[in-house]
Amino acid sequence: MNICMVGTGYVGLVSGTGFAEIGNRVICADIDATKIARLQKGEIPIFEPGLDEMVERNVKGGRLSFSNDVGASIAASQMVFIAVGTPQGENGAADLRAVEAVAKMIGEHAINETVVVCKSTVPVGTNAKVRRILANAKAKMHVVSNPEFLKEGDAINDFLRPDRIVIGCDQDDTFARELMEKLYHPVCLDHDRIVWMAPQSAELTKYVANTMLAMRISFMNEIAQLCDKVGADVHDVRLGVGSDTRIGTKFLYSGPGYGGSCFPKDVTALSHTAREAGMELTLAETTDIVNQRAKLVLAQKLRAHFDGSLKGKRIAVWGIAFKPRTDDIREAPALTLIDALLAEGAEVSAHDPEARAVAKEKYGTRIELPETAYDAAKGADALVLVTEWRQYQSPDFEKLKTLMRRPLLIDGRNIWSGYGLRSMGFTYDGIGVRGS
Ligand SMILES: NC(=O)c1ccc[n+]([C@@H]2O[C@H](COP(=O)([O-])OP(=O)(O)OC[C@H]3O[C@@H](n4cnc5c(N)ncnc54)[C@H](O)[C@@H]3O)[C@@H](O)[C@H]2O)c1
Repeated sequence: MNICMVGTGYVGLVSGTGFAEIGNRVICADIDATKIARLQKGEIPIFEPGLDEMVERNVKGGRLSFSNDVGASIAASQMVFIAVGTPQGENGAADLRAVEAVAKMIGEHAINETVVVCKSTVPVGTNAKVRRILANAKAKMHVVSNPEFLKEGDAINDFLRPDRIVIGCDQDDTFARELMEKLYHPVCLDHDRIVWMAPQSAELTKYVANTMLAMRISFMNEIAQLCDKVGADVHDVRLGVGSDTRIGTKFLYSGPGYGGSCFPKDVTALSHTAREAGMELTLAETTDIVNQRAKLVLAQKLRAHFDGSLKGKRIAVWGIAFKPRTDDIREAPALTLIDALLAEGAEVSAHDPEARAVAKEKYGTRIELPETAYDAAKGADALVLVTEWRQYQSPDFEKLKTLMRRPLLIDGRNIWSGYGLRSMGFTYDGIGVRGS
């Protein structure tokens, strides 16, 4: 099939390349000319494990190409995916300007009977809005909702082996249905993973999934803070609770709040959808409030160790990306911490294995960004672990102790052993852990 993926970001580049990998001819189109020029030269503008080899293989195989002529790319395709950003706009609602602009382009440029697939995360009613924009298109248009569930850091696996593929499609639209089935057939060989539903339900499903995951995180973050107050250990509580098969073990880890380009905006957008429908989604609203508080915890812990003032203190930060295995720093808890440290007159020396370049773009010379994690810790009054990259899990603590001015470790992900570190002479502070 000839596919055009409009929007070549984390979702568009991975899924466009994935569709090429399973045999389609895909043009990834984007209005960002610099990004497209880099891709045409073989450079991958984001860090996603395994993506570079998959792009190279499919470009060489003649199945994948990149273009910033969005109109011509649309005209050459039978299926056009909308995979542009839907950031948080006013009042917490999703900003749909990019989606609407792409729909308009499709209406102007499509010459074949086309299935338009909305992959961006969009609120209920967007599918209908896209149809309205396409009403005067020259060719026949079919509009389908197919929200994306991939996780950055494991996106290729998620694309090729998805838990489920949600497709919102009119029941009587056999043309769109057959094309979608054919498209996803190669990833459904072992069992059918497609969950068919109405477009409105598909749109809502994506927000409900993200909000439920965010809610689990916020709940455990609050419980971790309670553990700190009452002397319980959140590790033990998590194990005790998560071993109940009705609850399960995933998404029960406490930390400095959730970040990234999805959970924060999607939780807020779902609350907004509910308000527009005349009700308050109390759990979603509270999930966001708890998360904002959780993001302040690391700075609060630091202040408590320095008699309330961080002025002049040198703080090392390990991990800037919102989670390991990505270079995405959007809404990352590390940014909340770094901003607070800078505002309070602390010096910041930060390290991240993949997000150094984007952090440099954001902070310039306001923070130090040395090449190695140990260099970041040199002369530090405290080291704060924010993102649990594997390389931070078992560092050479003896070396760290000699490098740091003061042996204070704030473990924002509870991955180190407090007992062991205390016996080495460190002051150790996690979130809701006694230290085992
Ligand atoms: N990042 C994730 O992990 C993830 C996972 C699931 C769903 N989503 C959803 O997928 C959508 C895309 O997210 P992302 O993280 O890939 O965004 P992104 O910001 O990484 O990429 C969006 C791309 O769209 C391009 N673009 C914007 N307007 C355009 C236009 N008019 N024509 C062509 N290109 C245009 C931008 O230049 C950019 O390259 C969002 O709705 C997001 O919520 C993201």
